[in-house]
Amino acid sequence: MKVAFYDAKPYDKVWFDALSEQYGVEIKYFDFKLNAETAPLAAGYDAVCIFVNDNANKQTLDILYEGGVKLLALRSAGYNNVDFKSSHGKIHVVRVPDYSPAAVAEHAVALLLTLNRKTHRAYARTRDNNFNINGFIGMDLVGKTAGVIGTGKIGRVYAGICKGFGMNVIAFDPYPAEDSDIKYVGLDELLRSSDVISLHCPLTPETHHIINRENLDKMKPHAIVINTSRGALIDTAALIDALKSRKIGGAGLDVYEEESDYFFEDLSDTIIEDDELSRLLTFPNVLLTSHQAFFTEEAMHEIARVTMENIKAYGANLPLDNEICYKCGEVCTKNENTGRCF
Ligand code: NAI
Repeated sequence: MKVAFYDAKPYDKVWFDALSEQYGVEIKYFDFKLNAETAPLAAGYDAVCIFVNDNANKQTLDILYEGGVKLLALRSAGYNNVDFKSSHGKIHVVRVPDYSPAAVAEHAVALLLTLNRKTHRAYARTRDNNFNINGFIGMDLVGKTAGVIGTGKIGRVYAGICKGFGMNVIAFDPYPAEDSDIKYVGLDELLRSSDVISLHCPLTPETHHIINRENLDKMKPHAIVINTSRGALIDTAALIDALKSRKIGGAGLDVYEEESDYFFEDLSDTIIEDDELSRLLTFPNVLLTSHQAFFTEEAMHEIARVTMENIKAYGANLPLDNEICYKCGEVCTKNENTGRCF
């Protein structure tokens, strides 16, 4: 299998090169993102491997298909960047559904602990021989209420860690987990009674801007919002207004609505043109990381391994266990003989 690998970073190459020979996969790395302009470069490749900010819209998918690409291998769990109706019947789409829920959940907790106890600011202060602790006051997490929106693989690990801290965990999910003791409440109650709210649902038309102006208004004035899922779950303009008017206590963000032009790149010598991103970075009670929640050694190994397994299975005409299509979860019944969506 020949694979065109988009948006490749040095750390991707380390983990994929370690497995490529073993899986018989030949990889051409491109350091730019997939979009309609760069898609023609994949002509002649069997598969294309992409990450979260590559854009597999209709135009891009049509170009890939015309170039002979038959497999789109996402090296991510989320898949909101793919137009599934356009790929169906033409290009199989596979992903890595659960490489390390702990990696993401633990990063959400890192954002929470850092924001709450201001260790990021303390680090900078003590390095400057400034041992003053003014402004660093936090709250005890024990006994506080952690609201979890989305109790899938990551949300449940996060909820477990919060319970370990002695927090009272409540959750909202239209599809509650049957095998857990999580206390489910309505979204309204969660927003009103949580001291910390963490987002662990996928980005869909229903969850787009689930944290909007109206919902921010319902939160406690000291509530901390954590988002390690997808940027567009939060209406950024509304979040900025809520922070400016001190309606909430802070925000820990690993994702941002318009992150694709910025995240994963070193732009320290350039001027940021996105005023909302720049504004967010001015708040002392906002902590922004650049979509790194997945980034542990265990997760990178698993992402590379499962992606290689997905590619190998396609090349060997085997069932595609990790394939998804727009009918999955509703009417898609994977073909009994092929184990594929189409
Ligand atoms: P999952 O599919 O196991 O769980 C998602 C949960 O969200 C499900 O329980 C589902 O019922 C629930 N959900 C669906 N619609 C909802 C709604 N309207 N309101 C509340 N809950 C809703 O997914 P998993 O593995 O836990 O991942 C969650 C998200 O985390 C992914 O969709 C992805 O966007 C993000 N992610 C971020 C990473 C990062 O590095 N920052 C890495 C991996 C995933």
